[in-house]
Amino acid sequence: MKVREILVTSALPYANGHIHLGHLVEYIQTDIWVRAMKAQGHQVNYVCADDAHGTAIMLKAEANGVTPEAQIASVKASHEADFSKFLIDFDNYHSTHSEENKQFSELIYRRLNDAGHISTKDVEQLFDPEKQLFLADRFVKGTCPECDSPDQYGDNCEVCGTTYDATDLKDPHSTLSDATPVLKTSKHYFFDLPEFEQFLKDWTRSDSRLQTSVANKLQEWFDAGLASWDISRDAPYFGFQIPDTPSDEPDKYFYVWLDAPVGYMASFKNLCDKRIGTENALDFDRYWMQENEHKTEVYHFIGKDIVYFHALFWPAMLAGSEFRTPTGVFAHGFLMVNGEKMSKSRGTFIKAETYAEHLHPEYLRYYFASKLSDKVEDINLDLEDFMQKVNSDLVGKVVNIASRSAGFLVKKYDGMLSEVCVEPELLEDITKTGDEIAAAYENREFSRAMRLIMQCADKANEYIDGKKPWSLAKQEGTEQEVQDVCSVAINIFRQLMVYLAPVLPELTNNAKEFLNIDDLSFASRNEWLLGHKINKFKPLMQRIEEKDIIAMVEDSKASLTQAASLATSEDSTPVKQNQQPAPIETEQTDYIGIEDFAKVEMKVAHVLACNHVEGADKLLQFTLDVGEEKPRNVFSGIRKFYEPEQLLGKKVICVTNLAPRKMKFGVSEGMVLSTGNPKTGLTVVTLPDDCVVGDTLA
Ligand code: MSP
Ligand code: ZN
Repeated sequence: MKVREILVTSALPYANGHIHLGHLVEYIQTDIWVRAMKAQGHQVNYVCADDAHGTAIMLKAEANGVTPEAQIASVKASHEADFSKFLIDFDNYHSTHSEENKQFSELIYRRLNDAGHISTKDVEQLFDPEKQLFLADRFVKGTCPECDSPDQYGDNCEVCGTTYDATDLKDPHSTLSDATPVLKTSKHYFFDLPEFEQFLKDWTRSDSRLQTSVANKLQEWFDAGLASWDISRDAPYFGFQIPDTPSDEPDKYFYVWLDAPVGYMASFKNLCDKRIGTENALDFDRYWMQENEHKTEVYHFIGKDIVYFHALFWPAMLAGSEFRTPTGVFAHGFLMVNGEKMSKSRGTFIKAETYAEHLHPEYLRYYFASKLSDKVEDINLDLEDFMQKVNSDLVGKVVNIASRSAGFLVKKYDGMLSEVCVEPELLEDITKTGDEIAAAYENREFSRAMRLIMQCADKANEYIDGKKPWSLAKQEGTEQEVQDVCSVAINIFRQLMVYLAPVLPELTNNAKEFLNIDDLSFASRNEWLLGHKINKFKPLMQRIEEKDIIAMVEDSKASLTQAASLATSEDSTPVKQNQQPAPIETEQTDYIGIEDFAKVEMKVAHVLACNHVEGADKLLQFTLDVGEEKPRNVFSGIRKFYEPEQLLGKKVICVTNLAPRKMKFGVSEGMVLSTGNPKTGLTVVTLPDDCVVGDTLA
C-alpha cells in the first residue's frame, strides 16, 4: 500500500464565542475522517487554529475591558478544552494572531502585489463619528429604503428581503454608539478576483475537488460575474497591518478573511517547527510548494456558509502567489435541532460545554456519524431520536454483545476464550464488510459506515439469540459449546470495536482493557482471539436518560444570553448583491400543495377556562371560544410546561376541523397549536390581543 501524505483542516472558529453543537458537526466529521485515514496507515496531520482577527473580536475585548490579546488567549484555551472533551484530536491548534501567520500573509500579499493582482480604489463608507470607526453593515441599522420597515441591518431587510448598501438606509444609526453615521471616503486595497476567472472555472471542475452541488453553486457565481475583493480595513482594527503602503497615508489592515485561511498554512508551519529533529519531522515545502502538488494532499473541511472563501478567494490567492491549491474542499450542511434552527429561547442552542456537563461526548459523535454523508445536506439532531438511536445501537446492539457473553466466560472459564473458532465464516464475513466500511469512511459516507457496522452487530446478536448460551449453560455436557459461542461473540465484538474506533475512540480504548489487548488497528481486524484471557466486563457505556437531555436543554436556556453572536462575524459577507455568497441550500422535495394546506381549518380562540385534569399528569383542559354558539372542550399535552392561569384569557390557535377524539376524561374537540418538542418543552402559540375570535388563519 502506498502511504499517502495528507494534511487536513477544519475551518478556524472565531475567537469571540463558545463552541456549540453546530460547530461540532464539522470538527467531529473531520476528526472521524482523520482517524479513519490514520487507521488505514496513511500519514495524516490535522491542523486548526482560532480565527482571532476582526472588528467583532476587538469590540468584544473592549466590552470585557481587556486587550484583544488577552481576549483571544482566554477564548483559545476554552476552545481547546471543548475540543478535547469531544475527543477532537488535532495534531496542532494554533492562532491566526501568530508570527507564522503574519509572515505568510505578508508573503502572499507581496507576491500578489508584485504580480499586479492588487489595486486600490476610494470607497465611500459609513463612519461612526463618536466611536471613530468605519461601520461594517452589521453595525448599522435604519429604515428599509424599499418597504420602510424600521430597525433593519445595513445589508438587507429582514421584512421584505431586499439587499442594499448601508448607505441607502433611511435614518441610519450606529448600533455601537447610536450616533448618526457620516459618509467618509478612504482608500481600499482590492484583490483582482476576475483575473482568475478562467483558472477558477477549470479548478472547480477538475479532479473532483468539490462536491457537485458546490461546483454548481460556483457556476451560478461565475454567471453572475466575479468582482474584485476588498481586502483592506481601516484603523482601528485588530489584525495585521498591510505592508509597503505609502508612509504618508494612514495604516491599513488585512481584512480578517484575507489572513484567516492563511492560518491553515501557519498552523502547519508551527507544527513542522515543533517536529524538527523528531522522528515525525515534517517538510513544510512538501505540502505547500506548487511543484510538490502531486506528492501530498491537502483537504479543507468547511460549512456551506463559507464556500465562497474556500473555493474562490483561497485557491485564487494561492495560485496567484505560487503556492499549491487544495486537493479537495469538503462542505457540510448546517445543524438543525428538533427540525429547526438552533434557538436560544427553546434551549436548543447548545454549547459544547453545556452538552458535556450532561451527556457523554461519544453519544454525539456516534449520532452525527450516523447522519453524515458526503452531501451538503443539513443534519437534524432530533433529541428524542438521538436518545433512542444511541441506546438501541450502541448500548442495545454493540455493547450488549460483550456484556451478554463476558459474564459466562469470566464466571465459568476464568475469562479464557476457546482455542478454536467454531464460526470462521461468520467472522470472515464481518472482516470482508470491513473493506466496505473503510471505503465508506474514506468517501465521507459515515452514515453508510454506521449502517454496515450495525448490520454486523445484528448478525452477532442473531447468532447469540439462536444459540442461547444462557439456556445451554443450564444443561449438562454443554460447557464447551457455551465457551465456543461466547468466544465467537467476543471476537465479533472485537471486530466491531475496530470499525467503530474512528467514531468512538474512548469506548474502543476501554474495550482494549476489557479484551486485554493493545491492538485494535484496522489491519488487525481478522486477528482472532483464541485461547486468550479477557478481563472482567465493566459496563462500557450507559444508556442515555431522558432527564439528562431535559436538563441540558434547560441549562441551555439559562446560559446563552451572553453568547448571542457566536457564529457570525460582523462582516463575513465578502461581496454584495449579485455576488452575495448565498449558502448552498439543500433541496426540499416533500412539498404539499395549497389544497392540502387549505384542508386544515385553524381559528383564533379565546381561552375562557384552563384547568388541570384529575388523573392525567400530561394534560390541561381548555374551554375555548372559537366564535361558535357553544365553547369547545380541548385537551392539550402541555401540563408539564404551564400553569393553567398562565394561559387564561389568552388568544390561541385552535385546529377546529380535526375529528373529535374521545379520551378517558372527555371528548377533545380540537387542538391547540404549540411549538417545540413534547419531551423537552412546548410553547403555546399565542396571538396578539386584537385578533378576532373565530377568524380563520390562512
Ligand atoms: N472563522 C470562520 C472560518 C475561517 S476558516 C479560514 C468561521 N468561523 S465560525 O466559528 O463561524 O464557524 C466555524 C465552522 O463551523 C464553519 O465551517 C461553519 O460553517 C461551521 N458552523 C458554524 N455553525 C454551524 C452550524 N450551526 N451547523 C454546522 N456547521 C456550523 O466561519
Ligand atoms: Zn424592507
